[in-house]
Amino acid sequence: MSEFVSDFDAVDTAKVYSTSRLSGIADQQSQVIKDLLKRFKNVDDALYGSLLDIGCGAGNVTRILATFFEESIGVDISGSQISLARNVAGPHRITFKAGVAESLPVADGTIDVVTAVLALHFIKCDEFLIECARVLKPGGIALFYVELLSRVLVRGSDTITDTAPLVNQMNDKLSELAKRLKHPQRHVLDCYEALYNDMKWPGKQRVETEIENTSSLADFRRYCLSVPFCRRLGNTEENPVIEFVESVKRLCSMENTKEEDIEVRVRYRAVTIVLLK
Ligand SMILES: C[S@@+](CC[C@H](N)C(=O)[O-])C[C@H]1O[C@@H](n2cnc3c(N)ncnc32)[C@H](O)[C@@H]1O
Repeated sequence: MSEFVSDFDAVDTAKVYSTSRLSGIADQQSQVIKDLLKRFKNVDDALYGSLLDIGCGAGNVTRILATFFEESIGVDISGSQISLARNVAGPHRITFKAGVAESLPVADGTIDVVTAVLALHFIKCDEFLIECARVLKPGGIALFYVELLSRVLVRGSDTITDTAPLVNQMNDKLSELAKRLKHPQRHVLDCYEALYNDMKWPGKQRVETEIENTSSLADFRRYCLSVPFCRRLGNTEENPVIEFVESVKRLCSMENTKEEDIEVRVRYRAVTIVLLK
């Protein structure tokens, strides 16, 4: 377990993280997982068996995925996150449990699908994979999802500006800081490439796709800064996220426009590690 995982447990952080999601993004993340289930397990519209979502946080993605399953369990190390998850009325047959990925509170051979959405980087992978092999039924599947910002387009009154060089600059700076601080976010910034290369699982695969979301610059800023790693970097222009937002406004000559009124189309590289039992 990472020493940084307690970042998610502070009650205010848990709330900020779960309420700052970009509108619709949990649906898009769930759709990536649903498409992979169709591709690898030929699962379509009928309800599939059992889901175990690890590092479920406040359950934003778990609740959407649960609509495709007969039974779903969300597990998170953080008691604050699990309380938030339990406070929202879920779809049918969903349970949230406090527990750790490295020692799952689930019986052997009982799960059809294990997911971890934006959580694998906090987990001790070797121990978690042993647990996945234990709890999955034969023919089961594990899907570990991560995403990285790849493009931001800004809509002006009669122009669209692509801010690609600024996005690359921000990602490079975040990556350098995460490596220097030995923070798990470094694995997000390489889209789980190093974690994947170290994984011992026959036939492992890493599948790449994209998701896109339209929001205001204000919501985008809030979303990026709700990630505990970015919150750690402080609220000044030294923080690459804040530097990015301010540079975008300068590039588009929108310094005097309210961030709520600036529309951005953001695209993420969405990478999922797929393990078949
Ligand atoms: C970035 S959040 C993702 C939450 C949720 N999956 C989502 O996409 O909104 C990562 C979550 O993993 C949880 N976590 C970290 N290490 C864990 C571990 N070893 N076992 C279980 N959960 C863990 C954290 O408490 C946090 O809620």
